Amino acid sequence: MNYNEKELINQAILAQKDAISPFSNYPVGAALLTECGQIIRGFNIESKAYPTTLCAERVAIFSALAQGYRSFIAIAVATSDKGTPCGGCRQIMHEYIGNAPVLISDSDKNYFKTTVSDLLPTPFG
Ligand code: THU
Repeated sequence: MNYNEKELINQAILAQKDAISPFSNYPVGAALLTECGQIIRGFNIESKAYPTTLCAERVAIFSALAQGYRSFIAIAVATSDKGTPCGGCRQIMHEYIGNAPVLISDSDKNYFKTTVSDLLPTPFG
């Protein structure tokens, strides 16, 4: 499906600016495009009890699911250095987004494109 990659990247960078990451100082933003054209944003939310921190990708995906969206076209992730999603987020992407494009950007909108399958070639399930 055709969609505006740059717009999705812009939304991920906007989300990154809202990240709550006082412990790592590593803000991450995500923007998830639904089949009906909505963009649902997420950012990492850190906790004083470190392991209870939530990643940006999962916040976006779970927010979208909680709002009733079930079908997705692509996800963009923005970090300072084009950091790629962690293993847990790759698994959740596989289960809830399927094999969609994943756009990985830095804060200056330089990005590369991969897919959920490339990121997680032999998923559980
Ligand atoms: N983080 C994400 O938001 N997404 C990932 O896929 C990897 C890591 C966050 C978690 C934590 O707040 C910070 O980045 C540093 O690990």
